[in-house]
Amino acid sequence: MFAEKTIDQSDKPRFYRELADQLSGLLAGETDPVANAANTSALIFQMMPDLNWAGFYFLYSEDELVVGPFQGKPACVRIAVGNGVCGTAVAQGSSILVEDVHAFPGHIACDAASRSELVVPLIHEDTILGVFDLDSPLQARFDSIDQTGVERLVAIYVAACVWED
Ligand code: SME
Repeated sequence: MFAEKTIDQSDKPRFYRELADQLSGLLAGETDPVANAANTSALIFQMMPDLNWAGFYFLYSEDELVVGPFQGKPACVRIAVGNGVCGTAVAQGSSILVEDVHAFPGHIACDAASRSELVVPLIHEDTILGVFDLDSPLQARFDSIDQTGVERLVAIYVAACVWED
């Protein structure tokens, strides 16, 4: 059984270093992308404060994301590339940090409680496989330290998995 350890929140870079260690341990020895996505979203949702959604969208075709494992309320299943924060992150190939979702043109509200959002693309060998999405009911919940920390967590997830062509 995996037992997550509570991490001190006061030092954010350290929080993310310790969470990265826990995630590496959790995924060690497993290469299935769906199984690892399920445990990654569960660990992050449990450990990071003030989230109302944490999970994955995968690109099974070049123009559409499909929801994968997540924690939180039931979500929109399909998002076209270029739409919403998730589809825009795919289109531009980089993370998007949104302090106020109401100010983001085209934001897709899966949970009306969401106020801020961080979306990080899953990139493997220069190919985008999907995104990891975090939502918070707090405005400006995420800053650049969160972005760097979550990008590291996503890199650990991508590296742990075997990706079929
Ligand atoms: N807000 C996202 C949609 C996904 S949900 O938040 C889970 C977007 O605008 O792409």
